[in-house]
Amino acid sequence: MMTQFRLTAIFAACLVASFVFAQGVPELSGSSPDPMVSSPAEPLKQYVTDDVRQMRAYPEQPPVIPHSIEGYQLSVNANRCMSCHRREHTEGSGAPMISITHYMTRETQMLADVSPRRYFCTQCHVPQADTAPLIGNSFTDMSEMGVNAAGSD
Ligand code: HEC
Ligand code: HEC
Repeated sequence: MMTQFRLTAIFAACLVASFVFAQGVPELSGSSPDPMVSSPAEPLKQYVTDDVRQMRAYPEQPPVIPHSIEGYQLSVNANRCMSCHRREHTEGSGAPMISITHYMTRETQMLADVSPRRYFCTQCHVPQADTAPLIGNSFTDMSEMGVNAAGSD
């Protein structure tokens, strides 16, 4: 009898908790009471295009794009990004060269040009807008976890 009561209490607590947490996430459906009614989408935020290269959150992070990519064609036949970021074009464009990993096939074979698996840049690199995150997170930079920077003594 007591166990049954305890189980019911736990179940009730979980039910309440799921409602409380569910409220924290913005709804993707229409606003209540009728979720089928379409409401206008928020306008897209402006991207940061100040040309300042951003620090990476960790060494392997694909750096975010600090400039506008408005109207840059990126298709099977044309890659506007490579017209500046390709090794042969960096002197004229001042753009950082795509790094060595971009020339590597998945068998680590080096190619003369960008590897097919790195061709579609925006698969990994994205522009940034200065907005509040939808959901908070507790990411901590590894340099704040007690690691002494090399050569800092
Ligand atoms: C007209 C030349 C040009 C084109 C086209 C261009 N970039 Fe850039 N890119 C630059 C320059 C120059 C920088 C250095 C920062 C700055 O001046 O904005 C840069 C910086 C970057 C960075 C930051 C690198 C870092 O280490 O922080 C990324 C990522 C990037 N570009 C990706 C792209 C992608 C993806 C495209 C295509 C959608 C693209 N770029 C098209 C010139 C260009
Ligand atoms: C599969 C994911 C992926 C794709 C696709 C990709 N990149 Fe990257 N890129 C990365 C990662 C990860 C890094 C950072 C680590 C590294 O250099 O490998 C990076 C680094 C860079 C850097 C900084 C290089 C440096 O030495 O500071 C530039 C510039 C860049 N990418 C441009 C591009 C462009 C232009 C394209 C499209 C032709 C592209 N990337 C496609 C993942 C990707």
